[in-house]
Amino acid sequence: TPSLVIAVDGTSGSGKSSTSRGVAERLGLRYLDTGAMFRAMTWWLLREGVDVRDGGAVAAAAGRPHIESGTDPLAPTITVDGSDVSVEIRGEDVTAAVSPVSAVPEVRALLLDLQRQVIADGGIVVEGRDIGSVVWPEAEVKVYLSADPDARAVRRAAEQGGTDVATTQQSLLERDRIDSGRATAPLTMAQGAVHVDSTHLTLPEVIDRIVALAEQAA
Ligand code: C5P
Repeated sequence: TPSLVIAVDGTSGSGKSSTSRGVAERLGLRYLDTGAMFRAMTWWLLREGVDVRDGGAVAAAAGRPHIESGTDPLAPTITVDGSDVSVEIRGEDVTAAVSPVSAVPEVRALLLDLQRQVIADGGIVVEGRDIGSVVWPEAEVKVYLSADPDARAVRRAAEQGGTDVATTQQSLLERDRIDSGRATAPLTMAQGAVHVDSTHLTLPEVIDRIVALAEQAA
């Protein structure tokens, strides 16, 4: 099924990236990390000195950077004006600013276009916050991935090489609050989505569940 689209939405740190890449690898599909696109936009705005708390300034500048995503699940890439920023977009400064930037409607409209262009060829696992609800509601498989805040913070802190768990949890919950509360395309469980709670599941178990859903849909 080359046209298969699998949408994986959920809160920050719920395991969306590892899960989505694993599913894509298992099924021989492409992979799109839409969060990386919002992070790339945020990285560029910060570098340009744009005040990321000023929605008008963000909206005015957002059309300038050229953002491009690679779709290989084994080596995802994200470039801004031709430079790979995969490492830079994971920095604390970007993480702290990305949710306010992503709440700006003009930013969402620009990236939505890019996302739909990539997804249109089909055969892809797409992770984000609004994929099943707004970006691609016709996805054959929609998953809403969640995990308890404690589990998410412990995993994310470990990923980051042992940053403080309490601080990491605060940062995750603050992003969830902004992402769920914004007016445009808030994080929500899409109609028709299957809720997978990964708190007590291993990564291979979560991947197995989604692969099984995809096989049912095919
Ligand atoms: O997935 P990740 O945590 O890298 O996403 C970073 C941020 O990008 C999210 O906290 C959210 O503000 C924004 N985002 C979004 N819509 C998406 C994907 C990410 O608003 N589809």
